[in-house]
Amino acid sequence: MGVEIDQAFVQDPQHRPNLSITKAQGIPLIDLSPITTTNPSPSAIEALVKEIGSACKEWGFFQVTNHGVPLSLREKLEEASKKFFAQSLEDKKKVSRDETSPSGYYDTEHTKNVRDWKEVFDFLAKEPTIVPLTSNELDDRIIRWTNKSPTYPHNFRGILEEYIEEMEKLAYKLLELIAMSLGLEARRFEEFLKDQTSFVRLNHYPPCPYPHLALGVGRHKDPGPLTILAQDDVGGLEVKLKHNTDLEQWVRVEPTPNAYIINVGDIMQVWSNDAYESVEHRVMVNSEKERFSIPYFVFPAHDTEVKPLEELTNENNPPKYRPYKWGKFLIHRKDSNFQKQNEENIQIHHFKIA
Ligand code: OGA
Ligand code: NI
Repeated sequence: MGVEIDQAFVQDPQHRPNLSITKAQGIPLIDLSPITTTNPSPSAIEALVKEIGSACKEWGFFQVTNHGVPLSLREKLEEASKKFFAQSLEDKKKVSRDETSPSGYYDTEHTKNVRDWKEVFDFLAKEPTIVPLTSNELDDRIIRWTNKSPTYPHNFRGILEEYIEEMEKLAYKLLELIAMSLGLEARRFEEFLKDQTSFVRLNHYPPCPYPHLALGVGRHKDPGPLTILAQDDVGGLEVKLKHNTDLEQWVRVEPTPNAYIINVGDIMQVWSNDAYESVEHRVMVNSEKERFSIPYFVFPAHDTEVKPLEELTNENNPPKYRPYKWGKFLIHRKDSNFQKQNEENIQIHHFKIA
């Protein structure tokens, strides 16, 4: 990443970050203690469900505290992530993603055809993770993805596995609360997670001399139902305000120590038939400081047919999307994320019923 910026990183003028963004009111901060204490009162849970429901509706994003994930574990993973990325490129490339599995290290991801100023290490929650071999609807063949095993830092894999266990517990709790907020059976979403394709991503955003031109991650929506993100104290995540008219307004998510940032993604938007919309977000880079973040992407089983839930549709509110197969969507995305292409990659609006 030399003196002259590589044009692959340069955002179109209308998508460049605003460096003098004013601090608006932040995304909601929600205390999860009603579900993490031993004797929760039903009324406290009911209030929490309401809070979650309105955060999903108004923002699509919120932060949670008292979530039950041990801070010591998060710190252990953050430290391991720093050590991993501090290695030479040559050493990191020993665990590069490859044809047989997209997990591992890489530094050339593109979002909407512009290269992101970041490097990542992906680790699957389930091993093996079963997915379709190709995005072709008529091709029934499957493939088994496995994880890379870096030898450095010490016990990297063990720490990642322990962290994933905690993320899974939190994900189930959040999905129950979201289901209840939609008036669904609390465990309504569980069936989709049996052979889930979830993964944890370690993000490293190196300092960037061109914060006015490039982004750490370009504007995008997360494709799964739910994301649980740990960000460090540097900041840079921005969320697009809903309900704005012509002007695009981005709100900075100020780091809250030990909190997790939660957002609903595209699949929740489809399941809820647009009641909870997936919101665009992006990551600014910083000219002085490097930044680390750790999203956990909750993804369903590859053979999940994603469609508006029957309980949430009726004659007056007919399904707004045609069903699609999650695994095919995922492979489509994987194929397009790693090279510049001439067309938009697959999006849920392609399944929208006009
Ligand atoms: C992502 C993402 C945000 C961040 O990886 O999808 O939105 O703060 N990351 O790193
Ligand atoms: Ni994202």
